[in-house]
Amino acid sequence: MPSNVDTNAPSGARTYDYLLGGSHNFAADRIMADQVEGAVPGIRAAARINRAFLARAVRFMIGEGVRQFLDIGSGIPTVGNVHEIAQQANSSCRVVYVDRDPIAVAHSELMLAGNEHAGMVEADMREPATILEHPVTRRLLDFDEPIGLLFLLVLHWIPDEDDIAGLVATYRETLSPGSYLTITHMTDDMQADKIDAVAGIVRGNRGAGQVHPRTRAQITALFGDFDLVPPGVVPTGTWRPGGIGDIAEDPEMNELSFAGIARR
Ligand SMILES: C[S@@+](CC[C@H](N)C(=O)[O-])C[C@H]1O[C@@H](n2cnc3c(N)ncnc32)[C@H](O)[C@@H]1O
Repeated sequence: MPSNVDTNAPSGARTYDYLLGGSHNFAADRIMADQVEGAVPGIRAAARINRAFLARAVRFMIGEGVRQFLDIGSGIPTVGNVHEIAQQANSSCRVVYVDRDPIAVAHSELMLAGNEHAGMVEADMREPATILEHPVTRRLLDFDEPIGLLFLLVLHWIPDEDDIAGLVATYRETLSPGSYLTITHMTDDMQADKIDAVAGIVRGNRGAGQVHPRTRAQITALFGDFDLVPPGVVPTGTWRPGGIGDIAEDPEMNELSFAGIARR
């Protein structure tokens, strides 16, 4: 295990892994996840539909000609990781994953050993230069060609005070025409009580200043002047659902996050 892991403090990455049915988590993560599930029964479905959206988004971008992906806040590997979906569709696809969680980094590095077209960067997304200038990023991604940039369920960890708008704009501006920005983001527009309960539990376990749900208008603004692909910024499951599992059976579990994809 990496030496910088505190197994007594729950981590967002490991709690999400547990909610998805993964095994890369510790007791502290499971306790927080159980509290969240107690407050919002069925929340696992919201995590699953986010992963289903990830797969649709990657396939959509590949269909539009994208062959390189930068997945920021990529998490602990689970079913259907970006490079698997992308490289299954086109083996030449290149993928860079970024996360600040040491367990996510360690498992991603294990998963990617021997894959010359994918790599892992350990960094905080609030340091764009570290990520964009990292040797792994520079080796794998060509910023003169279209890139699919993904921020899935990660931007709500960044408070407005950390200039979320300026930060996402910095990343947007590095992308060449034909690139896509894909976001999923927790919202309290539709299920405020449930999101308040989740935020309260996470803050109680991990400290104040955690979890920043945003409105549809605020999330839409993060796409800047990129052109939103229809249907726009919509509840995650309803972004071009293709089959069973894309939309949660409990309608309320479809209303915890928004998703959108936009083109430069
Ligand atoms: C809920 S998980 C989402 C994983 C994956 N993107 C998905 O949608 O399935 C959020 C991830 O964002 C990471 N994260 C949170 N804040 C971050 C930051 N400032 N920089 C980099 N990663 C961050 C966490 O470590 C965690 O792995």
